[in-house]
Amino acid sequence: MTAAALQLLLGLAKQGPVDSGAVLFQAWCRSCHGAEGRGTPAATTRLEVPPADLRDCKGSTAETEDRWVGIVTRGGAAFGLSLDMPAFGDAATPEQIRAVVRYARSLCGQLGWPPGELNFPRAFLVEKAYPEDEVVITDEARGQEFIYEHRLGKRFQMEASARTAFDGLPDVFDGVTGALKFNVWHSLERRALASVGLEATPPIGRRSVWEVEPFLAFGAAPASAVVLQGQIVTTWEESAGVTAWSYRLGVGREIGRVVPMVEAGWTVPTHGESTLSLYPQMWVQLSRLGHVAASVGAELPATGPEPRHPRLVAFVFWDYGDAPLLRGW
Ligand code: HEC
Repeated sequence: MTAAALQLLLGLAKQGPVDSGAVLFQAWCRSCHGAEGRGTPAATTRLEVPPADLRDCKGSTAETEDRWVGIVTRGGAAFGLSLDMPAFGDAATPEQIRAVVRYARSLCGQLGWPPGELNFPRAFLVEKAYPEDEVVITDEARGQEFIYEHRLGKRFQMEASARTAFDGLPDVFDGVTGALKFNVWHSLERRALASVGLEATPPIGRRSVWEVEPFLAFGAAPASAVVLQGQIVTTWEESAGVTAWSYRLGVGREIGRVVPMVEAGWTVPTHGESTLSLYPQMWVQLSRLGHVAASVGAELPATGPEPRHPRLVAFVFWDYGDAPLLRGW
């Protein structure tokens, strides 16, 4: 009996069947991902891409357990990843795969990272409560916004965006906004999370005064495949003070690779008429891995000042924390 096999047996005896994920990991995954899951140095393998570092907390917690079960069962290629990540579906039982995946996901070893199960599909209006590494391009009628989001540590996310407007006015550059978001609470058991944030828009471009918007955002999946997301925003303007409160709520249903959603946005200014708009939209996963997706819909003003024309809304995003743009297709 080799020393490694003996070690395995001893491990089995010590840990018992409950921890068999650890034993399966050493038997099946170690040759590429390394005994500790950190990945083996490229020089010692002939793999086309380095095996993922399964200990990396940001990478593993941002994905769902089901996705990893899918990758291990069907192999990397089924998700547009490297063929070098083999499929274990024929050789292992679903229970064994679940056990080895749970073990691999425990390698992060830290609490407090919001789980990928709570990373709900992006809506047009409501700010996502989940902190993201993402690049987003949005379009609303003739206005565009380019957004860069970056995760900081477990729960913070910073954001920078720039807006343009091709509406016939001479100044195409509309302005920039910076934001910080913090996930204050999440619960996988309750399938819900809540975050607070602050957006600041300086007086450049078409803006003449500072605007600051503190907000609260939340998301929940109260029933399987049903997603609820909401946001409350206060708008504060330099010298005018609080000028408006906005209440936003969206509901969607995940159906395979698409998520039909409808959002309602109600804005109550401190002076003047309040406005209510509905935003029917369709979110579509574009890449097989799910790191590139798009959404198309419309803003339908229901109440508020005339003229109330419907407007096209759309966005496309790339979750660059998940995979490079051209991988995962
Ligand atoms: C023959 C080598 C090899 C073996 C054996 C192997 N993997 Fe992998 N694995 C890879 C490679 C290479 C990648 C990276 C694929 C890519 O990024 O295209 C990968 C990626 C993954 C990913 C995706 C990670 C992410 O961030 O998306 C998971 C999860 C994973 N492996 C789990 C496992 C588990 C669990 C086992 C054991 C049951 C295992 N692997 C066995 C080579 C291997």
